Parts: sequence; structure tokens; C-alpha cells
Amino acid sequence: MRFKTLACAALAATTFAAPTSEPKKAKFSWNKTKSLIAFGDSYTFVQGLLGHPNYTYIGDNFSLSFTPQQLFSNRIVQNQTSTASGGPVWTEFITNCGVKPGHTDPRKCEKQLWDFAYAGSNTDEVLTPLHWNHTVSLEKQIEQFEKYGDVALQKILKRKEALVALWIGINDINDLAKLRDKNASFASLYEQVVTSQERLWERVYKLGYRNLLLLNLPPLDRGPSPSVNKTLVSTYNGILASHATAFQKNHTDATVLQFDVNTVLNQVFDDAADHGFTNTTNFCPGYNQPDILTNPEKYGCGKGLDTYLWYNSGHLTSRVHEVFSKVLARWLGEQGR
Ligand SMILES: *[C@@H]1O[C@H](CO)[C@@H](O)[C@H](O)[C@H]1NC(C)=O
Ligand SMILES: *[C@@H]1O[C@H](CO)[C@@H](O)[C@H](O)[C@H]1NC(C)=O
Ligand SMILES: *[C@@H]1O[C@H](CO)[C@@H](O)[C@H](O)[C@H]1NC(C)=O
Ligand SMILES: *[C@@H]1O[C@H](CO)[C@@H](O)[C@H](O)[C@H]1NC(C)=O
Ligand SMILES: *[C@@H]1O[C@H](CO)[C@@H](O)[C@H](O)[C@H]1NC(C)=O
Ligand SMILES: *[C@@H]1O[C@H](CO)[C@@H](O)[C@H](O)[C@H]1NC(C)=O
Ligand SMILES: *[C@@H]1O[C@H](CO)[C@@H](O)[C@H](O)[C@H]1NC(C)=O
Ligand SMILES: *[C@@H]1O[C@H](CO)[C@@H](O)[C@H](O)[C@H]1NC(C)=O
Ligand SMILES: *[C@@H]1O[C@H](CO)[C@@H](O)[C@H](O)[C@H]1NC(C)=O
Repeated sequence: MRFKTLACAALAATTFAAPTSEPKKAKFSWNKTKSLIAFGDSYTFVQGLLGHPNYTYIGDNFSLSFTPQQLFSNRIVQNQTSTASGGPVWTEFITNCGVKPGHTDPRKCEKQLWDFAYAGSNTDEVLTPLHWNHTVSLEKQIEQFEKYGDVALQKILKRKEALVALWIGINDINDLAKLRDKNASFASLYEQVVTSQERLWERVYKLGYRNLLLLNLPPLDRGPSPSVNKTLVSTYNGILASHATAFQKNHTDATVLQFDVNTVLNQVFDDAADHGFTNTTNFCPGYNQPDILTNPEKYGCGKGLDTYLWYNSGHLTSRVHEVFSKVLARWLGEQGR
């Protein structure tokens, strides 16, 4: 039952994923991929010893630069507070890098994880203000990567063997809903946001990376206190998909993978009980308490955080990341080759 459901969801993702008609020399192979280089927001960020606590793997807006030595001395931290989900997130699950509690050297992983996502990040600072003065927008993450990250990684990895993943837009769409009048033309705002993203894909391509993974918006409309409805989410996702497809058409030597995490997660939400989730609407009020894992009853969260879809008002639990990561990893294995 569980398997069948997710197989269907994976199929939906495949259907959504880009061009099948044109003959292209797709070189992508997940099996041969040596590294995942990730950008984004709190759904994607992992904690590093040299990161801003609770926000990033390395650096922040006040200290964007790092040397190769610093990058390689850094470690992924896995503990109760090292992600925004109470445990490992999708980049860690699909690479199996940093999942174990403690510290992980990405260079020791079979698939190395280099995760430059910043919690609370928007696409850029044009339409929405930074959440904090230390925030690194996606645009700044790419700039940081051009100046420091790519330079360092060139010493140990080949660009063509990397998969570059971008998952962004969650804060953009939520912030725009709060900042703009309900009657605003959200579609044209989303168009601007995604156009900015496309310029960043171009910059990644110009560096020589040829494998891009884009994730669309999760079902934010099904959150505990949503700022956006299903229509807005699907409008945004439609715009993202059309830009991604156009980008693929104009870059035939690249592989642009569009993972429809929205469909996969909606399926998981619909069949929550099959996956062991019993609380689909709320989050555990004691989610960030030091003893939540050992004593969930104390906070009225009987069977623990793993039975919740939502970790807090804005984030999915680590267990949800694990569930969709299985679908994503299998799907990646079916792409290209
Ligand atoms: C991945 O590659 C290895 C060696 O090249 C091979 O043995 C293995 O079967 C491949 N795995 C998949 C899932 O294709
Ligand atoms: C990081 O988040 C945890 C959990 O919410 C909190 O207890 C801790 O104080 C935060 N750390 C910093 C340095 O802000
Ligand atoms: C998790 O690791 C970070 C970074 O080392 C540390 O600041 C934080 O206190 C740790 N949290 C817990 C709950 O151990
Ligand atoms: C981010 O840092 C730059 C300098 O590196 C600074 O000009 C800018 O004002 C900072 N952003 C915020 C919001 O403080
Ligand atoms: C950043 O903002 C905090 C308040 O949120 C403030 O205390 C701090 O001085 C600011 N830092 C800089 C360098 O502007
Ligand atoms: C969704 O939200 C937008 C913006 O507030 C609103 O215009 C639209 O009517 C809503 N759609 C539905 C189906 O509620
Ligand atoms: C939004 O549009 C509706 C229908 O045109 C109108 O009745 C309402 O006053 C508008 N709201 C605002 C805040 O402009
Ligand atoms: C197509 O891709 C090329 C090479 O990256 C780029 O210079 C050009 O601006 C792109 N054209 C469009 C219409 O996006
Ligand atoms: C979901 O969790 C919240 C917070 O712990 C609780 O109030 C609510 O009763 C739970 N709902 C179900 C169906 O278990």
C-alpha cells in the first residue's frame, strides 16, 4: 500500500519532469554523481561548525568569504537543533551525508554534500526584505559560491559530476502574501521572482555545472497556519515549471531536473496514516524542547514528533523529509543515464 502510493507519486513527478521529446545528450547519472551542491532556505539548510548557529553551514551576510582550508575543515553537524526540522533534511537523506548524529566531513561521503542554503532566505532583496541583517539571499549564496565555494570545490571535484540543487520560493511566496494587498497581481510578482531565479541558474551554468535539480513549492496551503492558498501555490509552481522548461530548451547540453515535490507531498499528506503520520494539521507545541524526544507526553505529543507532518508552523518534520527523499532518490536514479 505504502509502496504503491509512493510509486504513483514518483510517477507524477516523472511526468512533470522536463523534455522527453527532443533528443538530448543527457549525461546525468545519479549513480555517478559525486556531489550534491545545494542552495535554498531553511528547508535545505544544514548546520556547520563554521556556520551561523541555526542558519547555515558556513558564514553569513557579515562574513561571506571563506578559504578552501576553512571549507574543508568545516563539518556537518547533526543534532536536535541542527536543522529546521528536528533531524536530518532531504539533502542529507538523498546523499546519506550527515544523517548520523555528530559531525560529518562531507569529503568522506560517497556522495559529498556541500550545502550553502541559508535559513530564512528569499530569492533576492528586490521584492522582499531580508529576514535578518545576517541573512544570505539565494542571489548572495550564488555570489558566495562563485567567489569562494566553486573555487574551493574545484580542488577536489569535477563540475560535470556534481548535481546542483535549488529549493527556494517558500519565503518569497509567504512574505509576498503578508506584504502585499490581497488583490495584488501575485502572478506577475511570482514571474519576477522566478525570472530572478532563472538568472541564477544561468550563473551556475556559466560556471560549468550541467546538472540542475529544481524543487517546486511544497503544499504550504496545508500548513498549520497557511499564508497562501492552493491556487497561489500552483500559480507559482506553474511559472517555475515554464521557466525551467524554457531554460532546458535553451541549454541542450544541460540536464534540468524538475522534481514535483508538491505532488509527492500532497500524496503523502493524503495518505498520511499509511506512512505513520497521525497528526496532519498541527505541530507539537514542545517541538524545540530539549526533552521532546525522550518525553513527548509531557507536551501532549503522545507518540512523538515522527507522527507529525509539521515540525512547527512553517516546517515539515525530519520524518517527512525522509519519506519524500526516498521518492526523490529513486526518481533521480531513473533520470538521464
Ligand atoms: C551504480 O554503479 C555501480 C558501478 O558502476 C553498479 O555496480 C551499480 O549497479 C549501479 N547502481 C545502479 C542503481 O545503477
Ligand atoms: C538555536 O535554536 C534552538 C532551538 O530553537 C535554540 O534553543 C537555540 O537557542 C538557538 N541557538 C542560537 C545560538 O540562537
Ligand atoms: C548542536 O550543535 C551545535 C553546533 O555544534 C551546537 O551549538 C548546539 O548546542 C547543539 N545542540 C544540541 C541540542 O546539542
Ligand atoms: C549585508 O552585508 C553587506 C556588506 O557585506 C551590507 O552592505 C548589507 O547592508 C548587509 N545587509 C543587511 C541587511 O544588513
Ligand atoms: C544586526 O541586527 C541586530 C538586531 O537584530 C543588531 O543587534 C546588530 O547590531 C546588527 N548588526 C549590524 C552589524 O548591523
Ligand atoms: C487565494 O488567495 C488569493 C490572494 O489572496 C485570492 O485572490 C484568491 O481568491 C484565493 N483563492 C481561493 C480559491 O481561495
Ligand atoms: C479587492 O478587490 C475587491 C473586488 O474588486 C474589492 O471589493 C476590494 O475592496 C479590494 N480590496 C482592497 C483592499 O483593495
Ligand atoms: C540561452 O542561453 C544562452 C547561453 O547560456 C544565454 O546567453 C542566453 O541569454 C539564453 N537565452 C534566453 C532567451 O534565455
Ligand atoms: C495534533 O497535535 C496538536 C498539538 O499537539 C494537538 O492539539 C491535536 O489534538 C493533535 N491532533 C490529533 C488529531 O492528534
